[in-house]
Amino acid sequence: MTIADDAKPRSGGQPDPTEKPPADAPVIRAIAMPADTNPAGDIFGGWLMAQMDLAAGSVAARRARGRCATVTVEGMTFHSPVFVGDEVSLYARLMSEGRTSMRIKIEAWRRYREEEAVNKVTEAVFVFVAIGKDRRPTPLPPADDSNRIK
Ligand SMILES: CC(C)(COP(=O)(O)OP(=O)(O)OC[C@H]1O[C@@H](n2cnc3c(N)ncnc32)[C@H](O)[C@@H]1OP(=O)(O)O)[C@@H](O)C(=O)NCCC(=O)NCCS
Repeated sequence: MTIADDAKPRSGGQPDPTEKPPADAPVIRAIAMPADTNPAGDIFGGWLMAQMDLAAGSVAARRARGRCATVTVEGMTFHSPVFVGDEVSLYARLMSEGRTSMRIKIEAWRRYREEEAVNKVTEAVFVFVAIGKDRRPTPLPPADDSNRIK
């Protein structure tokens, strides 16, 4: 059985019709490719976590106006699998911030490339720390209209 044949019957996953993706535009959209699979032919969880880290890192860098490092990931949950060819949308929301840290909620939603139905596949809260040239934590700059993340 090829990967494409295997993916077709499961198009759309197990969508919960009452659940809707966030209203804001996704930070990243990516297409899951054959090179991103695990030995069983489904998309590797590490690829998905990398996309989530990239999306959260983008939000963190904009808020911090500089370099940031991931310090921890809270509550990583895989709800359903992702298949080759799926379009994966990464939504991000800055939940809270401290002196140097930011908690960023990330949700990943998949869409089978030939359909409109979407379902949430993963979610987690990524904590980033703003760091300076010395790689040590540095205070976040004040938030103003230019770097306040909606
Ligand atoms: C990120 C790093 C610079 C933080 O250094 P640190 O000495 O632990 O920092 P501090 O103890 O001064 O804490 C800095 C902030 O991070 C928060 N923090 C530190 N560890 C945390 C954890 N495990 N969970 C949640 N928040 C944490 C602190 O609460 C603090 O927040 P605040 O300033 O908003 O109050 C350091 O841990 C590091 O370099 N880690 C490796 C990062 C990395 O390689 N990431 C992967 C690739 S980007």
